Amino acid sequence: MRIAIDGPAGAGKSTVARAVAGALGFTYLDTGAMYRAVALAALRGHPEPAAAQIGLGGRVTLDGEDVTAAIRAPEVSERASVVAAQPAVRRALVTKQQALMRSGDWVAEGRDIGTVVAPDAELKVFLVASPAERARRRAAQLGADPAIVELEQAVRDQRDAARADSPLRAADDAVEVDTTGLPVDEVVARIVALVGTS
Ligand code: DC
Repeated sequence: MRIAIDGPAGAGKSTVARAVAGALGFTYLDTGAMYRAVALAALRGHPEPAAAQIGLGGRVTLDGEDVTAAIRAPEVSERASVVAAQPAVRRALVTKQQALMRSGDWVAEGRDIGTVVAPDAELKVFLVASPAERARRRAAQLGADPAIVELEQAVRDQRDAARADSPLRAADDAVEVDTTGLPVDEVVARIVALVGTS
């Protein structure tokens, strides 16, 4: 079974997707980490960033090096939204994601899982939250100023939603869940309950 969890940055995707995977015994796939790893490779001058070896699981590796922390740096976030707009990068990563998800049970998190990577996923969830709440969550994670995070977030949101190739949007058959003010446990319980009905 495949569960797709899409939505903008800060809507709670990572926390929720990881918890849903844990609750159901499914494997968690963080596709954003793959775009981040390619962005880090590009920042480091890799000759062909999209072809770099990316390892996922508990830790994220790039050509064998543990980059779990490095891919969360603000300059990598910024570059990730740029590389994610490049069709060649998207093609390479979507192919890898589809190969991974070909067998087994998955909770995959991203922007295009329900629309492009796994349009036939059994359950598609689109998580949203108010821009201020999303920025507050990200700022707390980064130890940064929420006002600045909200401004930077608006630029990335615009880029993710406006790009020609696979823009961020909900699949027609996705269930939208607004996480503003909702405790994580509540969001997870709602999604787990949806699994029974899908
Ligand atoms: O979810 P995140 O912040 O780790 O994602 C990093 C960047 O990658 C962000 O700009 C959106 C982009 N992305 C994407 O375009 N498609 C995905 N499936 C996952 C992430």
